[in-house]
Amino acid sequence: DKGPYRHYMLKEIFEQPAVVAETLEGRIHNGRLLEESFGYETKALLDKTKQVQIIACGTSYHAGMVARYWFEEVGIPCNVEVASEYRYRKTVVAPDTLFVTISQSGETADTLAALRSSRSQGFLGSLVICNVPESSLVRESDVALMTRAGPEIGVASTKAFTTQLVALRLLVLAMARRQGIDEAQLKEWVEELHALPRQMEVVLQLNDAIEKMAEGFADRSNALFLGRGPFYPIAMEGALKLKEISYIHAEAYPAGELKHGPLALVDAEMPVVCALPDDPLLEKVLSNLQEVRARGGELFLFSDKRVKIELDNYQSLTLDDICPTTAPIVYTVPLQLLSYYVALLKGTDVDQPRNLAKSVTVE
Ligand code: M6R
Repeated sequence: DKGPYRHYMLKEIFEQPAVVAETLEGRIHNGRLLEESFGYETKALLDKTKQVQIIACGTSYHAGMVARYWFEEVGIPCNVEVASEYRYRKTVVAPDTLFVTISQSGETADTLAALRSSRSQGFLGSLVICNVPESSLVRESDVALMTRAGPEIGVASTKAFTTQLVALRLLVLAMARRQGIDEAQLKEWVEELHALPRQMEVVLQLNDAIEKMAEGFADRSNALFLGRGPFYPIAMEGALKLKEISYIHAEAYPAGELKHGPLALVDAEMPVVCALPDDPLLEKVLSNLQEVRARGGELFLFSDKRVKIELDNYQSLTLDDICPTTAPIVYTVPLQLLSYYVALLKGTDVDQPRNLAKSVTVE
């Protein structure tokens, strides 16, 4: 039932504050991570883990890419790869590596095949982050950390992605404690997670302004998404959403790569989308955007209200008081809405985009 919403995708975007809260329920409390809620077996596996190998496809792979920044920040080496490449490659597994798969459906053929072959590769064990309790990946993994997004009907993944990021963040916090991160720091990070549902609710209020912004894309056939650090995979996710449901060709680049090729594509016909959180890479990203402007590219920005933008021409929407560790999750929401409204203007089948299936159970 779509309720008052025109499409499942829009309904699922708006459900995010609630399902993120649901995914945190019983797992954090009063600034504390309740690790006992992960279960004894999971805790025992995490105790032995020294590194992490993440495998996933599509949107779930983007969640893994964000998590790599988080794991390495607390001193845990982390590799991330798409399942279809990993499974056919000869790999060298470092001692004490945990094999982590991420999947909404738990039935993605390549991810499942990668899990099966991981068994003979010398991993410590396997953990799946999944949304479907009775799925193959949950049954075949040693332990599972469930997202509680509820059924996701729209082919374009939205609430599954943000709840995967929440589950990954919980995992990172559990590992951080094992790395000896001090309790005050941990408490602050847990509180940032606790504040997340409310922050997502506030961002959803940009809905009407984003609908208006989408008009700038309706007659375009290309778009560029830029980001640095964990906002690079968020840019990839934004580009995937746009191409998937509006059929506009969209590419994501790490902003620092612009000069190494993609800048040649930028002219007045090229919309460029970028999130501008108040983070240490801000100045670098702003100078990349300056290069875009110098070639006439049209900027569509989502920026923290503390950020001063000194560019000659741009459209921007402001986000308020976003916490640093959860910012990639919050900035995902306006990108989802932007794709949705562009698709609406183009009149595509938003919930059932052409050529795609919700669950990719064949290779
Ligand atoms: O069910 P999974 O998370 O394993 O699915 C992986 C991808 O097929 C999926 O995320 C796909 O990229 C989405 N349709 C993107 O919106």
